[in-house]
Amino acid sequence: MGKRVLITGGAGFIGSHLSRRLLAEGHEVLCVDNFFTGSRDNIIDLLDDRRFELLRHDVTFPLYVEVDQIYNLACPASPVHYQFDPVQTTKTSVMGAINMLGLAKRLRVPILQASTSEVYGDPEVHPQEESYWGHVNTIGPRSCYDEGKRCAETLFFDYHRQHKLQIKVIRIFNTYGPNMHPADGRVVSNFVVQALRGEDITIYGDGSQTRSFCYVSDLVDAMTRMMGTDPSVTGPINTGNPNEFTIKQLADLVVEIVNSGSKVVYRDLPVDDPKQRRPDITRARKVLDWEPTVQLREGLRLTIDYFDQLLAKSA
Ligand SMILES: NC(=O)c1ccc[n+]([C@@H]2O[C@H](COP(=O)([O-])OP(=O)(O)OC[C@H]3O[C@@H](n4cnc5c(N)ncnc54)[C@H](O)[C@@H]3O)[C@@H](O)[C@H]2O)c1
Repeated sequence: MGKRVLITGGAGFIGSHLSRRLLAEGHEVLCVDNFFTGSRDNIIDLLDDRRFELLRHDVTFPLYVEVDQIYNLACPASPVHYQFDPVQTTKTSVMGAINMLGLAKRLRVPILQASTSEVYGDPEVHPQEESYWGHVNTIGPRSCYDEGKRCAETLFFDYHRQHKLQIKVIRIFNTYGPNMHPADGRVVSNFVVQALRGEDITIYGDGSQTRSFCYVSDLVDAMTRMMGTDPSVTGPINTGNPNEFTIKQLADLVVEIVNSGSKVVYRDLPVDDPKQRRPDITRARKVLDWEPTVQLREGLRLTIDYFDQLLAKSA
């Protein structure tokens, strides 16, 4: 039977895809967003659906609604956005978590936290499995996000232990796809936009640092599977694509698919930028019976098509 599902950050990149998936599965969606990085354009086609409701609200303030499930995604996710107002970023993670956990406690409903691979910081073990506690700077420019998300995880597990709340924590690794913010400074959107505009492709560092990229439909699949697990499953569970690519390989692939004349240029690596990132998804395979299916080339094509149309509209 259809459920009433609250998605905080529902007008953002991942939230907009999750909204579509849940509506397609027959649920009602209450999308809560303050539009800091999200936009109405991401969900414009859903506004006519009577099972979709949009509420402008900042999760750092309490929220009183009646729902059956909560997905807590509200938080700017890219360094340019989360470093714009770092105090607000920590508040969003920590007070947002407290407010949404409080709501889940009052309603006695399951709540999923969109945590992040950034809780591992600049990891000293590779690939990262969930038992690794991380290597995180508490006082650097990325700390507002990393430590905010770590504290949110702590709150989730304390609500679980103290109030017997049904929690579901996933640690999301680099995810990409349509509806990403074109100016979020993330590597996939940067490269795609630069290639489509025929501008130089900027690599920070020497391009040998690696990342793994998960296409958004695969991630949404993992999220809904996680929500559907038995109450005893709390996570944390890594969700991401374990196929690892160097940043230089990604740049070359984007240039090839776009058929762009862009050339690659190199700039200094920002402070605290992790050198390697790859999820160990053994737990996700076992507990969620899940693994990513969309290959990088295929996902990039879909993402490039989206940005191509977006740039044509704004031209
Ligand atoms: N995209 C990734 O690769 C990735 C990786 C790890 C974790 N995550 C997590 O997934 C979630 C969604 O990320 P995304 O990539 O869709 O980013 P996004 O910036 O597109 O989405 C975040 C949404 O939260 C909203 N928001 C921000 N602060 C808010 C507040 N105080 N109150 C209400 N809404 C607020 C924004 O307006 C936006 O719509 C985030 O929590 C992020 O930390 C994403």
